[in-house]
Amino acid sequence: MQDILEKLEERRANARLGGGQKRIEAQHGRGKLTARERIDLLMDPGSFEEFDMFVEHRCTDFGMEKSKIPGDGVVTGWGTINGRVVYVFAKDFTVFGGSLSEAHARKITKIQDMAVQNRAPIVGLFDAGGARIQEGVAALGGYGEVFQRNVLSSGVIPQISVIMGPCAGGDVYSPAMTDFIFMVRDTSYMFVTGPDVVKTVTNETVTAEELGGASVHTTRSSIADKAFDNDVEALLQMRRFIDFLPSSNTSPVPELPSFDDAERFDMSLDTLVPRNPNQPYDMKELILKAVDEGDFFEIQEAFARNIVTGFARMEGRTVGIVANQPLVLAGTLDSDAGRKAARFVRFCDCFNIPIVTFVDVPGFLPGTAQEYGGLIKHGAKLLFAYAEATVPKITVITRKAYGGAYVVMASKHIRGDVNYAWPTAEIAVMGSKGAAEIIYRQELGEPERIKARVKEYETRFANPFVSAERGFLDEVIMPHSTRKRVARALNMLRNKELQNPWKKHDNIPL
Ligand code: HXC
Repeated sequence: MQDILEKLEERRANARLGGGQKRIEAQHGRGKLTARERIDLLMDPGSFEEFDMFVEHRCTDFGMEKSKIPGDGVVTGWGTINGRVVYVFAKDFTVFGGSLSEAHARKITKIQDMAVQNRAPIVGLFDAGGARIQEGVAALGGYGEVFQRNVLSSGVIPQISVIMGPCAGGDVYSPAMTDFIFMVRDTSYMFVTGPDVVKTVTNETVTAEELGGASVHTTRSSIADKAFDNDVEALLQMRRFIDFLPSSNTSPVPELPSFDDAERFDMSLDTLVPRNPNQPYDMKELILKAVDEGDFFEIQEAFARNIVTGFARMEGRTVGIVANQPLVLAGTLDSDAGRKAARFVRFCDCFNIPIVTFVDVPGFLPGTAQEYGGLIKHGAKLLFAYAEATVPKITVITRKAYGGAYVVMASKHIRGDVNYAWPTAEIAVMGSKGAAEIIYRQELGEPERIKARVKEYETRFANPFVSAERGFLDEVIMPHSTRKRVARALNMLRNKELQNPWKKHDNIPL
């Protein structure tokens, strides 16, 4: 008996070596951890249970029958993160460059099926060279099977992708259909076709980093939601991130113990908004002062910085925060901001995460660049996302809420549940100067008269009370009491029930 047990241990030890010590050292030499080391850091100690450790490919072309490595380039299984079940697969770059074979794909789809059936998040750690070239079409079929499951799981369980090395060809489309993509700076890159193909087809000379590094995807393409400095930081941040997410679309939002008094006043908020309406201020200050312990996990912080999105907690329960940022483009909504925030709002709505919106928006960004770039459609995405969302929606207008952008930002008219404004709020069809110049166009040659007209318009509309009189706002609140008021509103809305009319699915302007 003892020898059988020893044989098992031997086989396991051999499988754990993946592509061998030399390749492990090469992996470390590039500043990367191996697949198993990554899983060990991600999961609670001792909680990971590996499946399919002895699976091998069945390819017999190109002499492949002579080179089989147990596990076939991907480590799969489940474990817990801070006590909650999570499924994981990690591409093992030391085995055929982590490339995907038919058998490798089957290991992933097994985990995907289990995750969706057992309603727990799935995390994929990517470090791979795309389709197993020796397998050809069998590998393509494998990708298709993975993609199909990504789509069916979308909106049912959170799917998270962490790019920790190369991610090219077929490997990019599975992450692209998951909820979040995180990258590691300098060691990871994502592209459909690499620098060599780019050179051949378009004659552009570009490095892998320039084509698809973390800086490109977090700032320009918006493919990635966040980047971290190294593997360890990325994995530890994933442990923090998972804590914000429900396990599935039928699970409650996680509730963590909070030591931050929900009734806490922050008197400094009373002076956050400057007297001069054109002077910016940092909306993140409000977010950090309103949420539990100032703990805010920002999503897409380097892209479309005129709108801020991310997760926080109120009284220990997850909320999604969306906020205009007056520091960037005066907080206007442009195409990028529309796309970014719409996707975030839809994620929250899928997973029953209440949305808190802080508004200071002077309107949509004017200009040909925006209009030619599809501002109408991209802006409509955010309007659509807010309007279809059935989760609790709480809105606080701190200063400007002008025109169409006012309606978009979770206004009462698109089923905002509780809509507050600070006394500094100005809810109007447009800024006073623009409005007076249109109404009194014939007086444009008389600066003093126009000045008086602007003042007149300002006095009438540059306040929250015209809206409050119509019930478009539920209450005008003291800035210092924002945390308390939002927390109370969230509590009041805990049992909210709202359903949209039955449909196969909607037709959001993509
Ligand atoms: C089989 C692969 C492989 C692949 C890498 N390897 N990619 N084996 N299929 N796709 C193997 C290498 O042969 C090598 O084996 C080991 O992995 C490490 O690769 P290196 O090239 O030495 O590493 P590095 O210099 O770091 O370069 C990594 C890389 C490069 C950039 C990923 O390997 C590469 O360009 N690979 C090919 C990428 C590609 O074209 N994939 C197919 C895309 S088509 P040894 O034994 O020497 O260690 C695709 C279509 C799917 O994916 C579409 C689905 C819809």
